[in-house]
Amino acid sequence: MNSTEKFIPWGPGLLTGITSIDEQHRVLVDMCNEAHELLQSQSTTESIKRIVRDLMSYALYHFETEEELAIRYGYQAGEPEQNTIHRLQHRAFASAVADMQTEMSRGNGISVETLFDFLRTWLTQHIQGTDMQLADFLLRQAQPLE
Ligand SMILES: [Fe+2]
Repeated sequence: MNSTEKFIPWGPGLLTGITSIDEQHRVLVDMCNEAHELLQSQSTTESIKRIVRDLMSYALYHFETEEELAIRYGYQAGEPEQNTIHRLQHRAFASAVADMQTEMSRGNGISVETLFDFLRTWLTQHIQGTDMQLADFLLRQAQPLE
């Protein structure tokens, strides 16, 4: 499988221009792609639970990185509406994933296809929407960013 055939293709369209954010987005996309590939051959409840847990914990760590950058560079004061929407999207993602985990802990199976469609849509739209707005704001600040 070459890179153009990945479940979530990585490309310049997903780059925000902030290195630390881009590196973490790349990890998230890679994690989704690897999980998607793995689940083609072994989609047991246990493997799905583990994958969802790993994705969730990395996503939360990543959201923290973005939100810390936002705080450090005054996003709330500069773009209060965008900052609120950005944070709300992170919370909505976490609660959607938590709902899936609750379902699984009750012994209910979840649709792997639905899960991955959600992940792909959410990630690409979030990166290309509110994350780009945050990055544009950060890049307009005088301080050099990593
Ligand atoms: Fe974000």
